[in-house]
Amino acid sequence: MLGNFSYSNPTKLYFGEDSLKYLNEELPKYGKNIMLTYGGGSIKKNGIYDQVIEILKANGKNIFEDPGVMPNPTVQKLYEGCRIARENQVDLILAVGGGSTADYAKAVSVSAYCEEDPWEKYYLRMEDVANQIIPVGVVLTMVGTGSEMNGGAVITNPESKLKIGHVFGENVFPKFSILNPVYTYTLPKYQMTAGFFDIMSHLLEQYFSGEDDNTSDYITEGLLRSLIHSTRIAVQEPENYEARSNIMWIATWALNTLVAQGKTMDWMVHMIGQAVGAHTDATHGMTLSAVSMAYYRYIMKDGLAKFRRYAVNVWNVNPDGKTAEETAEEGLRAMEDYMKEIGVVMNLTELGVTEEMIPGIVKSTLIMTGGYKVLEAEDIGTILKQSM
Ligand code: NZQ
Ligand code: ZN
Repeated sequence: MLGNFSYSNPTKLYFGEDSLKYLNEELPKYGKNIMLTYGGGSIKKNGIYDQVIEILKANGKNIFEDPGVMPNPTVQKLYEGCRIARENQVDLILAVGGGSTADYAKAVSVSAYCEEDPWEKYYLRMEDVANQIIPVGVVLTMVGTGSEMNGGAVITNPESKLKIGHVFGENVFPKFSILNPVYTYTLPKYQMTAGFFDIMSHLLEQYFSGEDDNTSDYITEGLLRSLIHSTRIAVQEPENYEARSNIMWIATWALNTLVAQGKTMDWMVHMIGQAVGAHTDATHGMTLSAVSMAYYRYIMKDGLAKFRRYAVNVWNVNPDGKTAEETAEEGLRAMEDYMKEIGVVMNLTELGVTEEMIPGIVKSTLIMTGGYKVLEAEDIGTILKQSM
């Protein structure tokens, strides 16, 4: 275990089929004015909206609705949310939805009272918050991002074709999150499996870094094994509570800073995926699945020992009589077969990417340095071409 770190996570979780009732315990801690933030309307169709409104009213709250948070929330929408929050002096932003809604709520929470342009301050200059932060609570309806228990807030600027995540500190984490696995049953299969792969990618981005013996890697391997097991069941039986509840719990732990401790972390699949997202507005998890196999095959030799370990410990590859490279390749083939089995997007063409778009996507990709190979723009172009 390398590195010096401090660890604490301030988000209180309420988990399970009965978890929404705990909103009654949380609401009295905040003032009267609640901004109710949600997406394009799924919560009205599946009845979650009515349940939340009833609890807000029973607690005597003034409700200021902020609907229409789109998948991959934009900077324009952020400005709109800031206006609503400021004008109504909201005391709590209650995000009811998936990662986009939760991320957006956090972005509004730090931006509403920001005197500069939040896009420039937080996303281009990556500065810390220096103003009042509005508390955020989450009722999660889509599993994958881990936004329910972290400081991440990803915002897209369609004009400059940039999709950037700012990972804020503990003061921006949701104060509480309500996780009811049953709420995820109504997700269309495409969104459900995109979320499954997002979880896998978060785990791999942290796992594929470092040469030390690190407890985080052992925890990650356990989470990956549980994820693979439960997602295989969930694609066959979407209403299998055991599988869906395990997946919801794994997603939270995959990106709530626990398995990041002591790790330099890679994150290049996300950087390439986010650049693809900025150019196509494609579903986040699918931008990751479309580039992952090409990326991992490209860097495998630079992190061979870890890729071998991944094959053996996660995919049960028998290493006897095989070279490290053969074992590692077999692991990646098992991962590829699994991805096809759960039905995620395996190439960029399916997401609307054309050869002509590749230079622009390369330009939008931020380069990180924590993984096994530090990429140059040319490498990213090659990986994108191999993902077509
Ligand atoms: O908008 P509505 O109508 O609610 O529909 C949503 C949306 O169309 C739908 N949905 C959500 N829950 C549903 C449902 N439909 C039926 N039943 C339900 N129970 O699903 C669609 C996708 O929702 P979205 O919130 O966009 O998905 P996700 O949770 O994958 O969030 C994606 C965003 O999170 C960012 C991504 O970049 C992207 O912008 N990320 C945030 C991270 C973080 N905070 O740490 C890390 C991730 O790597 C990721 O980058
Ligand atoms: Zn992700």
